[in-house]
Amino acid sequence: MAHVLLVGNGAREHAIAEAILRSKRSPRLYSFMKTNNPGIASLSEAVRLGRYDEPEAVVAFAREMNIDITVIGPEEPLGHGVVDALAAAGISAVGPTRSLARLETSKSFTRNLLKKYGIPGNPRFRNFHSPDGIEAFLDELDGIVLKPDGLTGGKGVMVEGDHFQTHGEAMDLCLDILKSHPGVTVEEKLEGEEFSLQCFCDGQTVVATPPVQDHKRRFVDDRGPNTGGMGSYSAADHLLPFLDAAAVAEGLSITRSVAEAIRRETGVPYKGIMYGGFMITRSGVKLIEYNARFGDPEAMNILPLLRTDFLDICRAVIDGSLDTLEIVFEKMATVCKYIVPKSYGLPPNHPEVVSESSRIEIGETPGARLYYSSIDQRPDGLYMTSSRAVGMVGIADNLAEAERIAEAAVGAIRGPVDHRPDIGTEPLLRKRVLHMKMLKAEPI
Ligand code: AMP
Ligand code: GLY
Repeated sequence: MAHVLLVGNGAREHAIAEAILRSKRSPRLYSFMKTNNPGIASLSEAVRLGRYDEPEAVVAFAREMNIDITVIGPEEPLGHGVVDALAAAGISAVGPTRSLARLETSKSFTRNLLKKYGIPGNPRFRNFHSPDGIEAFLDELDGIVLKPDGLTGGKGVMVEGDHFQTHGEAMDLCLDILKSHPGVTVEEKLEGEEFSLQCFCDGQTVVATPPVQDHKRRFVDDRGPNTGGMGSYSAADHLLPFLDAAAVAEGLSITRSVAEAIRRETGVPYKGIMYGGFMITRSGVKLIEYNARFGDPEAMNILPLLRTDFLDICRAVIDGSLDTLEIVFEKMATVCKYIVPKSYGLPPNHPEVVSESSRIEIGETPGARLYYSSIDQRPDGLYMTSSRAVGMVGIADNLAEAERIAEAAVGAIRGPVDHRPDIGTEPLLRKRVLHMKMLKAEPI
């Protein structure tokens, strides 16, 4: 019997919990959460509520519960060294150490790593720790993106045309960023379509899962502010309508080189998830960023398709034997749509409060998978906080049917909720394909 500890409290972790419990290793699941996720709690033998910046609290719970394997869901505990603390206590984990998690927590670390080891995929970029030289570099770029160094919850990136218009505004933003962050990365704005390639890595071997496209913008047609992700889809052929096998192979090849480079750089093998956020552009696949964990929502697309025992994969990641395992995903299409409160992602940022008006009821959701995120279960029902509430996932032979299932499930929710009805629909998919054809100047 395997005693497994899961750290995290989102819909991504709800999907991970489900994957763990499908294992033939008779797992017993224990969960360490910042706030109680009723979906995860209902699958767990025991739950401990605590902070992700207190690694000792995670270690103490792991010791009490005799944990064999820990799976870390979000970036926050990785950035606070939870894996290092577990390792010091002799407890193995799927997830990188704090130093290796810089792949996500430091944009400049990752850009410099690719540059130093000659790995393709970087846009033009420079890191600055003071205002010196920023102005001149801004003038060298056609389009500009600014990235604060450090974790920003996916909302710290500023893109020319969206968040600022002029070089003067860009300079002011850089000065602002430098007041609260150790540095700022200034880089070339890329144009193309984004895709997420989540990979398992044991330090040596890197195995890709099917590519997924997330939808960061809050509103239909990719309008409005960036969010943590409003929903995502994956296709039955394990490609995407705008993405061929060669492009997926390019993303995987970059990730393999990065796994090797980070081992040489730190002397430590990376054991965990390497999630490359890539963009296919007219000049090939470029790297937007790495995350040191599964994507949220993207985990909900790929984990339900996993045929291979998830705990066998976890064991192989920890033991460094991924090369001996065949990892298989069902050839099915998936569409995930997040249910969110109407105020989600809108400025001014609302604190995570639960108000009487945020009560929701979930009716019948035939055929759909349902993953809880920021949901509070009270005696009189389910309440949303100000964040993403529930992920609805449709799985079918084709995208149209998967989308129909997800949309029907969204329709079963009663309450003051919102979602993006366009995710996974034919018109939006066609728009993505046309966008790429236009960029590559191909006939349409
Ligand atoms: P990140 O937090 O790095 O995922 O960035 C958030 C979003 O900003 C990405 O999903 C992209 O849409 C956009 N972005 C980041 N870097 C670039 C870039 N170099 N060019 C164009 N868009 C970018
Ligand atoms: N879906 C974006 C992320 O997980 O960072």
